[in-house]
Amino acid sequence: MKDLINKIKTDGIALNEDVLKVDSFLNHQIDPVLMKNIGDEFAKHFKDLNITKVFTIESSGIAPALMTSLKLNIPLVVLKKQLPNTLIDGYYSVPVKSFTKNSIYNLTLSKKYISKDDNILIIDDFLAYGEATLGVINIIKEAHANIAGIGIVIEKSFQPGRKKLDSLGYNVYSLARIASMSKNKINFIKEE
Ligand code: G4P
Repeated sequence: MKDLINKIKTDGIALNEDVLKVDSFLNHQIDPVLMKNIGDEFAKHFKDLNITKVFTIESSGIAPALMTSLKLNIPLVVLKKQLPNTLIDGYYSVPVKSFTKNSIYNLTLSKKYISKDDNILIIDDFLAYGEATLGVINIIKEAHANIAGIGIVIEKSFQPGRKKLDSLGYNVYSLARIASMSKNKINFIKEE
Protein backbone atom coordinates (compact mmCIF):
# COMPACT_ATOMS: atom_id res chain seq x y z
CA MET A 1 0.00 0.00 0.00
CA LYS A 2 1.78 3.03 -1.36
CA ASP A 3 0.92 5.73 1.19
CA LEU A 4 1.83 3.42 4.10
CA ILE A 5 5.17 2.52 2.49
CA ASN A 6 5.87 6.22 1.85
CA LYS A 7 5.04 7.01 5.48
CA ILE A 8 7.42 4.27 6.69
CA LYS A 9 10.11 5.65 4.36
CA THR A 10 9.71 9.23 5.61
CA ASP A 11 8.82 8.73 9.30
CA GLY A 12 9.86 5.17 10.22
CA ILE A 13 13.24 4.64 11.84
CA ALA A 14 15.12 1.35 11.62
CA LEU A 15 16.73 1.16 15.06
CA ASN A 16 18.75 -1.89 14.07
CA GLU A 17 18.33 -5.02 11.89
CA ASP A 18 15.23 -6.14 13.80
CA VAL A 19 13.21 -3.25 15.17
CA LEU A 20 11.37 -0.52 13.28
CA LYS A 21 10.30 2.56 15.22
CA VAL A 22 6.90 3.79 14.02
CA ASP A 23 5.70 5.61 17.10
CA SER A 24 5.05 8.88 15.25
CA PHE A 25 2.12 7.42 13.26
CA LEU A 26 1.19 3.88 14.37
CA ASN A 27 1.69 3.02 18.00
CA HIS A 28 2.22 6.12 20.13
CA GLN A 29 1.04 9.11 18.12
CA ILE A 30 -1.50 7.86 15.55
CA ASP A 31 -2.15 9.26 12.07
CA PRO A 32 -5.95 9.01 11.72
CA VAL A 33 -6.03 9.61 7.95
CA LEU A 34 -3.50 6.84 7.40
CA MET A 35 -5.52 4.55 9.73
CA LYS A 36 -8.68 5.28 7.74
CA ASN A 37 -6.90 4.44 4.48
CA ILE A 38 -5.53 1.24 6.01
CA GLY A 39 -9.02 0.24 7.17
CA ASP A 40 -10.44 0.97 3.71
CA GLU A 41 -7.73 -1.13 2.07
CA PHE A 42 -8.27 -4.15 4.36
CA ALA A 43 -12.04 -3.85 3.94
CA LYS A 44 -11.69 -3.73 0.14
CA HIS A 45 -9.40 -6.75 0.11
CA PHE A 46 -11.54 -8.96 2.38
CA LYS A 47 -15.03 -7.61 1.51
CA ASP A 48 -16.34 -10.72 -0.28
CA LEU A 49 -15.54 -13.20 2.50
CA ASN A 50 -18.69 -12.66 4.62
CA ILE A 51 -16.69 -11.68 7.66
CA THR A 52 -18.73 -11.35 10.87
CA LYS A 53 -16.14 -9.85 13.24
CA VAL A 54 -12.71 -8.25 13.24
CA PHE A 55 -10.35 -9.46 15.99
CA THR A 56 -7.22 -7.71 17.20
CA ILE A 57 -4.92 -7.60 20.24
CA GLU A 58 -4.56 -4.58 22.50
CA SER A 59 -3.11 -2.03 22.09
CA SER A 60 -1.48 -1.07 18.78
CA GLY A 61 -3.73 -3.28 16.67
CA ILE A 62 -6.82 -1.37 17.76
CA ALA A 63 -6.52 1.69 15.48
CA PRO A 64 -6.20 -0.14 12.13
CA ALA A 65 -8.64 -2.86 13.24
CA LEU A 66 -11.29 -0.33 14.29
CA MET A 67 -11.11 1.44 10.93
CA THR A 68 -11.44 -1.92 9.16
CA SER A 69 -14.47 -2.95 11.21
CA LEU A 70 -16.07 0.45 10.67
CA LYS A 71 -15.74 0.11 6.90
CA LEU A 72 -17.02 -3.49 6.96
CA ASN A 73 -19.80 -2.42 9.35
CA ILE A 74 -19.15 -5.30 11.78
CA PRO A 75 -18.00 -5.41 15.43
CA LEU A 76 -14.37 -5.22 16.54
CA VAL A 77 -13.28 -7.54 19.35
CA VAL A 78 -10.09 -6.64 21.24
CA LEU A 79 -8.27 -9.55 22.86
CA LYS A 80 -6.73 -8.63 26.20
CA LYS A 81 -3.22 -9.32 27.44
CA GLN A 82 -4.28 -9.39 31.07
CA LEU A 83 -7.37 -10.89 32.62
CA PRO A 84 -9.72 -7.94 33.22
CA ASN A 85 -11.27 -8.10 36.71
CA THR A 86 -14.66 -7.38 35.12
CA LEU A 87 -14.39 -10.64 33.19
CA ILE A 88 -16.59 -12.73 35.45
CA ASP A 89 -18.10 -14.90 32.69
CA GLY A 90 -16.30 -17.73 30.96
CA TYR A 91 -13.25 -16.91 28.91
CA TYR A 92 -10.60 -18.41 26.67
CA SER A 93 -6.96 -17.82 27.56
CA VAL A 94 -3.72 -18.90 25.88
CA PRO A 95 -0.11 -18.00 26.75
CA VAL A 96 1.82 -16.05 24.10
CA LYS A 97 5.56 -15.52 24.05
CA SER A 98 6.78 -12.23 22.58
CA PHE A 99 10.29 -12.64 21.21
CA THR A 100 10.59 -8.93 20.42
CA LYS A 101 9.68 -7.90 23.97
CA ASN A 102 11.03 -11.03 25.68
CA SER A 103 7.88 -11.52 27.72
CA ILE A 104 4.96 -13.91 28.11
CA TYR A 105 1.34 -12.84 28.48
CA ASN A 106 -2.03 -14.58 28.59
CA LEU A 107 -4.16 -13.65 25.61
CA THR A 108 -7.73 -13.57 26.88
CA LEU A 109 -11.20 -13.42 25.29
CA SER A 110 -14.64 -13.56 26.86
CA LYS A 111 -16.73 -16.45 25.50
CA LYS A 112 -19.53 -13.92 24.99
CA TYR A 113 -17.84 -12.32 21.99
CA ILE A 114 -17.24 -15.37 19.83
CA SER A 115 -19.47 -18.16 18.54
CA LYS A 116 -18.95 -21.14 16.26
CA ASP A 117 -20.81 -19.22 13.51
CA ASP A 118 -18.26 -16.41 13.42
CA ASN A 119 -16.10 -15.90 10.33
CA ILE A 120 -13.24 -13.79 11.64
CA LEU A 121 -10.71 -11.37 10.15
CA ILE A 122 -7.63 -10.93 12.36
CA ILE A 123 -5.90 -7.53 12.07
CA ASP A 124 -2.59 -6.64 13.74
CA ASP A 125 -0.03 -3.88 13.47
CA PHE A 126 3.14 -6.01 13.20
CA LEU A 127 3.88 -9.53 12.05
CA ALA A 128 7.25 -10.56 13.43
CA TYR A 129 7.47 -14.06 14.92
CA GLY A 130 3.77 -14.74 14.44
CA GLU A 131 3.25 -15.90 18.00
CA ALA A 132 0.60 -13.27 18.78
CA THR A 133 -1.38 -14.16 15.65
CA LEU A 134 -1.04 -17.88 16.42
CA GLY A 135 -2.41 -17.19 19.91
CA VAL A 136 -5.49 -15.51 18.38
CA ILE A 137 -5.83 -18.42 15.93
CA ASN A 138 -5.72 -20.95 18.78
CA ILE A 139 -8.47 -19.15 20.68
CA ILE A 140 -10.67 -18.94 17.55
CA LYS A 141 -10.12 -22.65 16.91
CA GLU A 142 -10.97 -23.49 20.51
CA ALA A 143 -14.29 -21.66 19.99
CA HIS A 144 -14.84 -23.64 16.71
CA ALA A 145 -15.17 -20.39 14.71
CA ASN A 146 -13.59 -19.83 11.29
CA ILE A 147 -10.56 -17.70 10.35
CA ALA A 148 -11.38 -15.95 7.06
CA GLY A 149 -8.15 -14.00 6.78
CA ILE A 150 -5.32 -12.14 8.45
CA GLY A 151 -4.50 -8.48 7.72
CA ILE A 152 -1.13 -7.12 8.80
CA VAL A 153 -0.07 -3.48 8.63
CA ILE A 154 3.71 -4.05 8.70
CA GLU A 155 5.22 -7.46 8.02
CA LYS A 156 8.88 -8.02 8.78
CA SER A 157 9.25 -10.72 6.14
CA PHE A 158 12.75 -11.62 7.30
CA GLN A 159 11.36 -12.90 10.60
CA PRO A 160 9.52 -16.23 10.75
CA GLY A 161 5.88 -15.13 11.25
CA ARG A 162 4.80 -14.93 7.61
CA LYS A 163 6.29 -18.33 6.74
CA LYS A 164 4.55 -19.94 9.73
CA LEU A 165 1.14 -18.55 8.71
CA ASP A 166 1.66 -19.43 5.02
CA SER A 167 2.67 -22.98 5.88
CA LEU A 168 -0.57 -23.37 7.84
CA GLY A 169 -2.51 -22.22 4.78
CA TYR A 170 -3.91 -18.93 6.10
CA ASN A 171 -5.02 -16.09 3.82
CA VAL A 172 -2.53 -13.36 4.81
CA TYR A 173 -2.56 -9.83 3.38
CA SER A 174 0.24 -7.48 4.51
CA LEU A 175 0.16 -3.80 3.49
CA ALA A 176 3.92 -3.22 3.83
CA ARG A 177 6.43 -6.06 3.59
CA ILE A 178 9.95 -5.38 4.79
CA ALA A 179 12.61 -7.59 3.23
CA SER A 180 15.46 -6.42 5.46
CA MET A 181 16.63 -3.56 7.64
CA SER A 182 19.86 -2.11 8.87
CA LYS A 183 20.40 1.00 10.95
CA ASN A 184 18.50 3.82 9.17
CA LYS A 185 17.84 1.68 6.06
CA ILE A 186 14.60 -0.15 5.22
CA ASN A 187 14.29 -2.42 2.17
CA PHE A 188 10.77 -3.37 1.04
CA ILE A 189 9.59 -6.38 -0.92
CA LYS A 190 8.43 -4.87 -4.23
CA GLU A 191 4.65 -4.52 -4.62
CA GLU A 192 3.25 -6.39 -7.63
P1 G4P B 1 4.56 -11.42 16.91
O1 G4P B 1 3.58 -10.32 17.30
O2 G4P B 1 4.66 -11.60 15.42
O3 G4P B 1 4.34 -12.68 17.64
O4 G4P B 1 6.01 -10.96 17.29
P2 G4P B 1 6.60 -10.52 18.67
O5 G4P B 1 5.95 -11.27 19.76
O6 G4P B 1 8.05 -10.63 18.54
O7 G4P B 1 6.19 -8.99 18.77
C1 G4P B 1 5.14 -8.62 19.53
C2 G4P B 1 5.15 -7.19 19.97
O8 G4P B 1 6.27 -6.47 19.47
C3 G4P B 1 3.94 -6.49 19.42
O9 G4P B 1 3.61 -5.45 20.31
C4 G4P B 1 4.46 -5.88 18.14
O10 G4P B 1 3.67 -4.78 17.74
C5 G4P B 1 5.83 -5.46 18.58
N1 G4P B 1 6.79 -5.40 17.50
C6 G4P B 1 7.34 -6.43 16.81
N2 G4P B 1 8.24 -5.98 15.95
C7 G4P B 1 8.25 -4.63 16.08
C8 G4P B 1 9.00 -3.59 15.45
O11 G4P B 1 9.85 -3.81 14.57
N3 G4P B 1 8.73 -2.32 15.84
C9 G4P B 1 7.80 -2.03 16.80
N4 G4P B 1 7.61 -0.74 17.09
N5 G4P B 1 7.09 -2.99 17.44
C10 G4P B 1 7.33 -4.26 17.06
P3 G4P B 1 2.77 -5.70 21.58
O12 G4P B 1 3.56 -6.41 22.62
O13 G4P B 1 1.52 -6.42 21.17
O14 G4P B 1 2.49 -4.28 22.12
P4 G4P B 1 1.44 -3.18 21.73
O15 G4P B 1 2.24 -2.04 21.20
O16 G4P B 1 0.50 -3.69 20.68
O17 G4P B 1 0.76 -2.92 22.99
